[in-house]
Amino acid sequence: MMRKILVLDTTLRDGEQVPGAKLNLYEKLEIAQQLKNLKVDIIEAGFSASSEGDFKAVETIAKKIGDEVMITALARAVKNDIDAVYHSVKHAQKPLIHIVLGASDIHVEKKFRKSKEQVLAQGVDAVRYAKSLLPEVQYSTEDASRAEFEYLWTTIEAVVKAGATMINIPDTVGYAVPEEFGDLIRRINDRLKNLNPNVILSVHCHNDTGLATANTLAAIKNGADKVECTINGIGERAGNAALEEVVMGLKLRRDYYQADTGIETTQIKKTSKLVSSLMGLDVQVNKAITGDNAFAHSSGIHQDGLLKSRDAYEVIHPEDVGVDQMEMILTARSGRHAVKNALAQIGFGSMTPEDFEKVFARFLELADTKKEVYNHDLFHIVESTLEGSEEDNEKKELISELVDMQVIINNSFPSASIKICRGEQVLTSSSVGDGAVDALYSAIRNALNMDLELLEYKISSVSKGKEALGRVSIQVAYNNKKYTSKAIDTDILKASALALINAANTVAIEEYLARKNETKAG
Ligand code: KIV
Ligand code: ZN
Repeated sequence: MMRKILVLDTTLRDGEQVPGAKLNLYEKLEIAQQLKNLKVDIIEAGFSASSEGDFKAVETIAKKIGDEVMITALARAVKNDIDAVYHSVKHAQKPLIHIVLGASDIHVEKKFRKSKEQVLAQGVDAVRYAKSLLPEVQYSTEDASRAEFEYLWTTIEAVVKAGATMINIPDTVGYAVPEEFGDLIRRINDRLKNLNPNVILSVHCHNDTGLATANTLAAIKNGADKVECTINGIGERAGNAALEEVVMGLKLRRDYYQADTGIETTQIKKTSKLVSSLMGLDVQVNKAITGDNAFAHSSGIHQDGLLKSRDAYEVIHPEDVGVDQMEMILTARSGRHAVKNALAQIGFGSMTPEDFEKVFARFLELADTKKEVYNHDLFHIVESTLEGSEEDNEKKELISELVDMQVIINNSFPSASIKICRGEQVLTSSSVGDGAVDALYSAIRNALNMDLELLEYKISSVSKGKEALGRVSIQVAYNNKKYTSKAIDTDILKASALALINAANTVAIEEYLARKNETKAG
């Protein structure tokens, strides 16, 4: 039978512990709303007793977001913390108090300097008190993976008898390994289900040796009913188990785990981007599921295989996590098949074989000097190489190319001037803006006379920091169609300009083809 695994997202609590990632109330609300769209089962909204701001944030999230999704916040096993959590989460339809107390010898003896009995009694008292306030109480046995098993079990047994409805087993310092952690969960689960089958067994894994996802999945395989994760795997030190990895790992291998979550996976990429931009934490490009390159293929052999059959090299479909499409990165290793496909995507799919060979030869020349070839390079190659059909020549006339640009950066009036050529036309414009890129982009939009709304802009360094990769997502105002495009240059402003011009070229060619089809149909 397929088991449903509950997902607690702790991006706003463990995730917010990342240095520099502090959010304001409105940002927390925005993320909480998106976590609800993602259909997580529980949102851990903060640590209520830590500050007035944290209390207010948890309270506001409970009031505004807490209708279907359960809301919790963290408390140490002391009355003051439990009161703070209670008063902040009680407005939710389904509130939960989460209590944490150390269970390993290191925590008991060195951190608390108490006896095991004293710590156990403190945990039991805390659960009893929390239970007098709310029906749902989670107890986390901090540092459980380094705890002595029989003491860990005695604690679990005692707090369940005191009323805990969820038992969370944290690998607080990322010490666990999958087989051993799975075994620990199996042993606890066997006893727990005998003691009280309604109590939920949960895990919370840290990523200090990169095993958080593997440990979490091993726990599910061995009986865990609930997992605690963060978006993009952010969190204390090396972070927590990444929600997207655990969820997609389960979805991909439902046959093996016989388990699934209720997560709306198509919201994953959007949630990842929101968390990354509001917290100012970049996602590693090769990060599983949410990294920029997670669905990008650059090997020629893979590209050819993918174009023949996607499942040759794609086990997770980008659309399933809300990524528009897989990406083929053109390099000198890309073959004819991939280049033909890229040309077709930018509207030049019907060249004669002779024209294609000329374009392909130029492509190889360029790919040998540049590491990667982007659409704006293809536009340039087509523009300067093709002497093809009337239609191709008409399309060539629509391609805009950057001729020159000047950007003045100062505090009062950052401004930019741009010169672009489109076919025979020379287009110029100047503009001021909120900053250099804003000024540059409005100058480009004015020059091209195109109403393109900028949805996302990103600049990052590549090739040992010498080159910059500009990436933009735009939306065309009149039909709301979205386009994403990239460009590379040693100058960050030029890379930014090329990325936008490249997106505009894609729009122009697509519009031309649509007009052509209408004429043919009419
Ligand atoms: O890592 C940890 O042990 C925690 C607990 C509060 C669950 O974050
Ligand atoms: Zn943690």
